[in-house]
Amino acid sequence: MSDWGWPGLIAHRCGGALAPENTLAGLGIAARLGCVAVEFDAMLSADGVPLLIHDETLDRTAGVPGCVAAMPAAALLATDVGGVFHPAFRGETIPRLIDALARCRALGLAANLEIKPATGVEIETGRVVGELLASMAPTQRPVVLLSSFSADALRIAAGCVPDISRAFLVEAFDDTAIDTALALGCQSLNLSRQGLSAAHVAAVKKAGLRCLVYTVNQPDEARRLAAWGVDGVFSDRPDLLLPVSACQNPA
Ligand code: G3P
Ligand code: MG
Repeated sequence: MSDWGWPGLIAHRCGGALAPENTLAGLGIAARLGCVAVEFDAMLSADGVPLLIHDETLDRTAGVPGCVAAMPAAALLATDVGGVFHPAFRGETIPRLIDALARCRALGLAANLEIKPATGVEIETGRVVGELLASMAPTQRPVVLLSSFSADALRIAAGCVPDISRAFLVEAFDDTAIDTALALGCQSLNLSRQGLSAAHVAAVKKAGLRCLVYTVNQPDEARRLAAWGVDGVFSDRPDLLLPVSACQNPA
C-alpha cells in the first residue's frame, strides 16, 4: 500500500478559497503557500473524460448553464471557471484530471482525488478514474489518496489500483460508515465537521481508521479537532491553517 503520508492540512478544491476551485491555478497557489497536499473533485464528461469539477452543472463556477455529464470534454475544457471567481483569473478553464495529477507531481503536492460521479454513473466514473491511475507510471503521478461519497465508485476504482490509499466520505457519522470504510479496505473515514463530536472521532480511531474532516477554516477549530485525534483537515483557508497544521503534523 502506498503511503499517503497523512498531512495535517489539505487545501480544499485545489487552492481553497484563494483561487477558483478545482483549477490548475489553485494548485499553483497551494504550492506557493507551502501546502503539501490538495483535494479536488473528478467527474466524467459525456464522452467519458475525467475532469475537475464539483457540481453537476456549470452555473455556480462558470456562470453559464450546462450539465457536465451531458457535455463533451472539448466544450467543458474550454469553459472559463476563473472569471466568476475574480476577473484576475479570467481564462482559467476546467482542467483534465490527468493534467491536474501531472501538475501535482510537478509541484510536489500530494493529491486527494475525490471521485465525484454524476448521479447514475458511479461505477463508470470509478472505473475510468481507476484505469487512468493504473495507466500512469509511478514516476508520472503524485502521491494519491482516493476518496468518494460513493461506495460503488470507490470499490471499482480500488479494484484498478489496490495499492493506492483510499478513504470513504460521509456527510454524517454513523456506525455503518465505519463498517463500509472497513469493507472497502479504506485507511480513513472522512467526515463533515458539522455535527461531529469527540466520540465520533474516537469511534473511528478505535476501528483502526484515520479520520480527516472537512471543511475547516478556523484555526481554533483545527486545534480542537487535532486534540480529538483528527489526522487532518480540508480547508478553504490554507493560509490561515498552515501554522496550525505544522503543530499537528508528525515531525
Ligand atoms: O473530500 C472532502 C470534501 O471535498 C468533501 O466535500 O462537497 O467539498 O466535495 P465536497
Ligand atoms: Mg471534494
